[in-house]
Amino acid sequence: MGLLPKISPMSLLGLPLNTQYSTLASLAVKLPVTTLFRLTVTGANMPVQSKRQALGTLFDGRAPKQPARSLNSLWATMPAMQPIPISPTALFPTIEWQEAGQPCTARWRSERGAAPPKKVVLADDTMTADVAYRLACEGTALLWRGDFQNARQMLQAMARRSDESGKTDKRGRKPKVNPLASKIVADCSIDTGAAAVSGMDSAPAIDPAEAAKGFHMHRQAQAQRARVLGMVLINFDTDYAMALRRAPDARQACAEGWGPPAADETACVASLRELLGLISAHEWRKNGIEIAALGAAPNNRIYPHYGVFSPQRGEYVSLLVKMPLPKGEDLTVFDIGTGTGVLAAVLARRGLSHIVATDLDPRALVCAQENLQRLQVDVELLQANLFPPIEKGLADLIVCNPPWLPARPSSPLEHAVYDEGSSMLLGYLNGLAAHLAPDGEGWLVLSDLAEHLGLRTRAELLAAIKAAGLQVAGRMDTKPAHAKASDATDPLHAARTKEITSLWRLKVKPAKVS
Ligand SMILES: C[S@@+](CC[C@H](N)C(=O)[O-])C[C@H]1O[C@@H](n2cnc3c(N)ncnc32)[C@H](O)[C@@H]1O
Repeated sequence: MGLLPKISPMSLLGLPLNTQYSTLASLAVKLPVTTLFRLTVTGANMPVQSKRQALGTLFDGRAPKQPARSLNSLWATMPAMQPIPISPTALFPTIEWQEAGQPCTARWRSERGAAPPKKVVLADDTMTADVAYRLACEGTALLWRGDFQNARQMLQAMARRSDESGKTDKRGRKPKVNPLASKIVADCSIDTGAAAVSGMDSAPAIDPAEAAKGFHMHRQAQAQRARVLGMVLINFDTDYAMALRRAPDARQACAEGWGPPAADETACVASLRELLGLISAHEWRKNGIEIAALGAAPNNRIYPHYGVFSPQRGEYVSLLVKMPLPKGEDLTVFDIGTGTGVLAAVLARRGLSHIVATDLDPRALVCAQENLQRLQVDVELLQANLFPPIEKGLADLIVCNPPWLPARPSSPLEHAVYDEGSSMLLGYLNGLAAHLAPDGEGWLVLSDLAEHLGLRTRAELLAAIKAAGLQVAGRMDTKPAHAKASDATDPLHAARTKEITSLWRLKVKPAKVS
């Protein structure tokens, strides 16, 4: 009985059934009234609703109700467990369709967490883009049976239709003005002087409500576009090969994103859009990105993995090279949310040798490990929620580049881009004082795009810094130079032209001497 897992009834009712139950598991749970339930958890990677339904069917064995008795005696009365035949597809979401008069089913894969489409029809080269687009808009998925390259072209044609429809309203009229473009009027300066310490110099004069409305409308449009374009589906064999004419060999790309195929892997279906994302991530991972802040080529590349925040915008990385290091010998550094490990690597190249880097995301940790090894820099990597455990001591420098936009991620892949409720930013600020050594510094990398989009004000940022018992000791700014910053067709262009990325130097505010 000592092996009974410790699971509180509340945690069961809250359904945090996570990946630790990714395989079929039988659990015995002790409830407060000494009732023994046998629970069979049938799968992870299920939407919460499915988990709820699954849990509804889990109570497959319940000992007869007894007056208070010991768990051991209840265990003895529990009927012997019967093996439950379970098909491999019960462990993950499935997609169903009809083909040649037969019902078919396969594992459904969606890294963006989309539910399997309920209506699926077969499609091939004879279908026109207009028909495909209409069906997709109606929520009917198209399982592709034609030539792979034609499917790609079909997707492009559907994307054009989606973009065109976004430019007009339902009656085909063009919207009057982009609310973001008309509201953003302030001109921001780059300044590292005294005004930077007050932090108030670049606050934009915008109507935050209007700007935020524009941003949320933009995200809604993006989500709708993703839903429609995600309706073109591809079948994969158990080794991720595709049996379509002119299909590329994307097995490696799939294995990098989905994990290597298991020994008992089943055939699966995923959207063509997801596959193209996997292929493009595979190319980035293969070729890497040159990071000037890491020194001269060739030993200055970072190789991002699928789903890990990519440092394509080099300007924020360069800030870490220019900022003077805190004084002292043998500094201890923490890099919070290390992603590809790029900031830790830059600091290691600056000569810092005692660096601990954390991330919550296992993919990020694997990616960082690979990059740091390749760059031959010594960094300790830990999976942690923000700061390393207290046994790792205090740090002289704690860097963090949290996601810059406080908004809800619409998929697990967006957790490195959107920081709902500014939780990572606030967690970092609020934990700094407790983890900094005397005279230590926090370096916060943050763009002010959120301010230009009406999602956060400068005053709110400064108030959060103050509330955490910190003060601004300096700031270094830079203007983004990446392609998106000058892309006039980007709906967020007006905000992006104003964007400034800053490295904030934060120190613990000295206590007042009374
Ligand atoms: C914007 S990315 C920055 C990555 C990297 N530091 C860089 O500058 O390229 C934010 C990173 O923080 C990680 N993250 C998010 N919440 C976290 C948390 N609570 N604790 C640790 N890491 C977290 C994400 O997985 C992601 O890798």
